[in-house]
Amino acid sequence: MGISSVVVVGLGYIGLPTAAILASNGIDVIGVDVDPRTVDAVNRGVVPFVEPDLSTYVAAAIERGTLRATTEPEPADAFIVAVPTPFKGNHEPDLSYIESAARALAPHLRDDALVILESTSPPGATEQMARWITEVRPDLGYDGRTGPRIHVAHCPERVLPGRVMHELVTNDRIVGGLTHEAALRAQELYAVFCEGQILLTNAVTAEMAKLVENSYRDVNIAFANELSIIAKNLGIDIWELISLANHHPRVNILQPGPGVGGHCIAVDPWFIVDAEPEASRLIRTAREVNDAKPGWVIDQVHEMLQDSEAPTVALLGIAFKPDIDDLRESPALRIAKTLSGEYASGRILAVEPHIDALPTELSDSHNIELVSLDTALAASDATVVLVDHTAFRIEADQIRENSAKFVDTRGLVSKR
Ligand SMILES: NC(=O)c1ccc[n+]([C@@H]2O[C@H](COP(=O)([O-])OP(=O)(O)OC[C@H]3O[C@@H](n4cnc5c(N)ncnc54)[C@H](O)[C@@H]3O)[C@@H](O)[C@H]2O)c1
Repeated sequence: MGISSVVVVGLGYIGLPTAAILASNGIDVIGVDVDPRTVDAVNRGVVPFVEPDLSTYVAAAIERGTLRATTEPEPADAFIVAVPTPFKGNHEPDLSYIESAARALAPHLRDDALVILESTSPPGATEQMARWITEVRPDLGYDGRTGPRIHVAHCPERVLPGRVMHELVTNDRIVGGLTHEAALRAQELYAVFCEGQILLTNAVTAEMAKLVENSYRDVNIAFANELSIIAKNLGIDIWELISLANHHPRVNILQPGPGVGGHCIAVDPWFIVDAEPEASRLIRTAREVNDAKPGWVIDQVHEMLQDSEAPTVALLGIAFKPDIDDLRESPALRIAKTLSGEYASGRILAVEPHIDALPTELSDSHNIELVSLDTALAASDATVVLVDHTAFRIEADQIRENSAKFVDTRGLVSKR
């Protein structure tokens, strides 16, 4: 077929790198986002979030004219949908972003166009997207029938924030088509920049592959988090325990933490639970164990501070994992917010070297401040390590020496 133009819908952490890498490989890319600030930033060659090397790619593609951004889709050979897929209050997947993207791009589809859903999706979402498209465009088929048609596939993304530009090229990709021809077309598009294997399957298997990858991580983290509570109750050093057990040649226990954050591992397992509630008991329990961990950390802080009513508490790290600025679903947010309410006369000193300002959900609290590590250590009565950023690892000795009391959820200063 030959794909020379691609519309990427959703210019966030996933869509913008994908748009930029395609544009840097000679494809004519139109990036679409409902947020005019994002569109404006991209058109100025500016990346509205932190991702190493991405701004170099975006600025170069804008300069060369292979990438431009707009708020409305336009006709193209292929469309990639990379919009959010959060869950609703009851942990049901919220497909409304996919629906509005599908309805917005549908009028611009030509016969033989390729439409790829990259958003992490529950089983059946790719076919549902195709149905939404054909509600707007009943002239197009997607199930392999002859006549005017589109090719619809799911290609989940598994890049690691902080290494996206590298992993987009090197990771293996799973491409699941609603038809085999759709999978082949999608494979052709990803082969433009992907040097890893491109593995073909059907759409629902591709959807589940992404969900089970993240559930695998979640279940294993839950095991480590549960062990950390058991070890504390038994008076055992969790870091030593895991290190010793991991000397077994076939054991590799992960490191515990304050909970699980990010909008992948903390969200995606619920899509499986929602689809198969009776059969997914372990997956649900892992989610519950990980969601309960911030509450346990808060209990540890209470125990450490005993009757102190107005303590100054340093919280090291607000991001959901080390060395990034992403705060989405971060357990640290809940811990900070709860401690701020409970110690309303005290001070919560948040140290997060990757952000310049606190998110509103924290800055709304009268007693949470964003401060430097030095300021926090000098002023605090107790330290709670929530993220083991490299910046903190470098200062581990200083943190240990300056903290009379600490709760160390990441083994930053406790690990021998
Ligand atoms: N961030 C990651 O590390 C990661 C990894 C793998 C998969 N994913 C999945 O990729 C998808 C996108 O995630 P993200 O992190 O890029 O999200 P994001 O919030 O960073 O970006 C989504 C973008 O889509 C835009 N948008 C929303 N509705 C739109 C619409 N109808 N039309 C056009 N634009 C619209 C938003 O304004 C935003 O800029 C999600 O399903 C996510 O689960 C993310």
